[in-house]
Amino acid sequence: MQTVHRIAELRTQVAAWKRAGERVALIPTMGNLHRGHLSLVERARQLAPRTVASIFVNPTQFGPDEDFAGYPRTRVDDSFQLEAAGLDLLFAPGVTAIYPRPLADMTQVSVPGLSQLLCGANRPVHFGGVATVVAKLFNLVQPDVAVFGEKDWQQLVIIRRMTADLDLPVEIVGGPTVREADGLAMSSRNAYLSAEERAIAPTLYATLQAAAEQWRGGERAIAVLENAAKVRLAAAGFRPDYVEIRRADDLQRPAPDDTEVRIFAAAWLGRARLIDNLAII
Ligand code: PAJ
Repeated sequence: MQTVHRIAELRTQVAAWKRAGERVALIPTMGNLHRGHLSLVERARQLAPRTVASIFVNPTQFGPDEDFAGYPRTRVDDSFQLEAAGLDLLFAPGVTAIYPRPLADMTQVSVPGLSQLLCGANRPVHFGGVATVVAKLFNLVQPDVAVFGEKDWQQLVIIRRMTADLDLPVEIVGGPTVREADGLAMSSRNAYLSAEERAIAPTLYATLQAAAEQWRGGERAIAVLENAAKVRLAAAGFRPDYVEIRRADDLQRPAPDDTEVRIFAAAWLGRARLIDNLAII
């Protein structure tokens, strides 16, 4: 595995692969890798002979009171894991390579509507930062295909919308959520949980599963299901941010004849904000 920090080196290597007619797959990450990230590398390797992962803790997707400074950075361990996973190239740029000027002076990408829903309601700058950095990574790496996790379903929907709206020649592929044995979705932020909180954390998934069961059993009172889930989360010790049942493809309220519907939740547990989602039909 090759590791590059500079944009020029990245472009040189990718251009050589493209000249040889090899397809390139990209897996964007913020590092602190776990099996969820590695499952995306595995998926990428099935999609293209050359795989590039990026590790960049993107400052613009963190709000002023969020955990940018404390976000776990574990580059040495990440490199070992990516190498073992068979990755070809790790792109790990510094902040000034990606943002040479203050953000207020730089072009930004925004995906209106979708970015204000669900997680966007309480994280107003988040998805603009994500869309901007992913657009830049697409232009830097010029992948044929890019792989994103379904754990961050809203992010996946926003990236698909951006790619379509800007006519970016990148295929977007989603990979299923990888979970711990007790159902907790793997996340770098799980490291913020105390032992006691870690024992409570799987209740988030269990709560969504219970709501999905009720939906499948015929319950269609969306607000009733959402409120019951929030009450259960609060009783377990979470501070629920939202629980919402939405259409999978555009995150709007489902209509009775919709065939792909998911339940989404975000809830604070101690200093960790956990998110999860699953298909209910
Ligand atoms: P990060 O949180 O590091 O996640 C990188 C990728 O791994 C994302 O596509 C995310 O959905 C996926 N992922 C995380 N946990 C997962 C799990 N348990 N199962 C499957 N996939 C999982 O998401 C970001 O970084 C950033 O917003 C980024 C897209 C890199 C832009 O900065």
